[in-house]
Amino acid sequence: MQQVRVNQVFLKFQMQTMIQGQSVYCDDLAIVYHGDGLHLIENLTFDAVVTDPPYGYRMYKHDLPVPIEYWEHLLNERKVKLAIFGYPEELSWTAGQLGKPDEWVTWWPTNLFGRRSQLMRTSQAIAVWGDDLNRKAVREPRSDNPAGKAIAKLRGNETETRTAGDVWRDFSPCSGMRPQNRQKHPNEKPVSLMEKILTLINANNICDPFCGRGSTLIAAKQMGLKSIGIDVDPACCKTAAGRLREVML
Ligand SMILES: C[S@@+](CC[C@H](N)C(=O)[O-])C[C@H]1O[C@@H](n2cnc3c(N)ncnc32)[C@H](O)[C@@H]1O
Repeated sequence: MQQVRVNQVFLKFQMQTMIQGQSVYCDDLAIVYHGDGLHLIENLTFDAVVTDPPYGYRMYKHDLPVPIEYWEHLLNERKVKLAIFGYPEELSWTAGQLGKPDEWVTWWPTNLFGRRSQLMRTSQAIAVWGDDLNRKAVREPRSDNPAGKAIAKLRGNETETRTAGDVWRDFSPCSGMRPQNRQKHPNEKPVSLMEKILTLINANNICDPFCGRGSTLIAAKQMGLKSIGIDVDPACCKTAAGRLREVML
């Protein structure tokens, strides 16, 4: 019954967009398809989906919400690990439907203070599901503040490092209204942030079905991981391909 519903959703979106997948870039580690990420994943093999999906605010042509059945299908039938970006309120609703995430990260870009931002809100969240997350690798040094260390000791936590899994402050390439940023995708993610997510999710073959300008794929390639990107917008695919070409291994 569930499968029938999922298929109906895929069919509806497929009919709405009528887009066939087409590979626009390929190297030893990364491949970029121009097409519909809701539909194309069925023919692809991967062990994790890491993605910043369209948020459904109709800010651009393809900004339609992703149906909850899509995420359910990935988690429950494909049984892959999953990391999804979103604004905290909407993502909490998604997480409520899918079941408690194994990790919840708040991304609070460092350069927002005192500047107007192209992001609609100051922070975004990342919900992560997966059974062998590499939390240790994203730990960071604790400050020298003795009070903080004493509290950590009382709580039974490590006193020299702390989990970075709560607030990450990586610089945003799109924040600020400086002229050089106006042409960028309003939601382009920093490669450093994607590297941390990929480290945490601990998978070898990653798919980003809504890859935009390809930050997930750039991070994966720099880390020597295999990745597949899909985007419905040909301009995004072209930019992602250009950025991937520039990554030297
Ligand atoms: C929030 S943006 C992703 C930005 C990306 N994280 C980056 O760093 O550039 C969402 C992307 O999903 C794409 N998109 C929307 N609907 C899609 C669909 N059905 N299939 C594939 N891509 C889609 C949009 O073109 C947009 O580039």
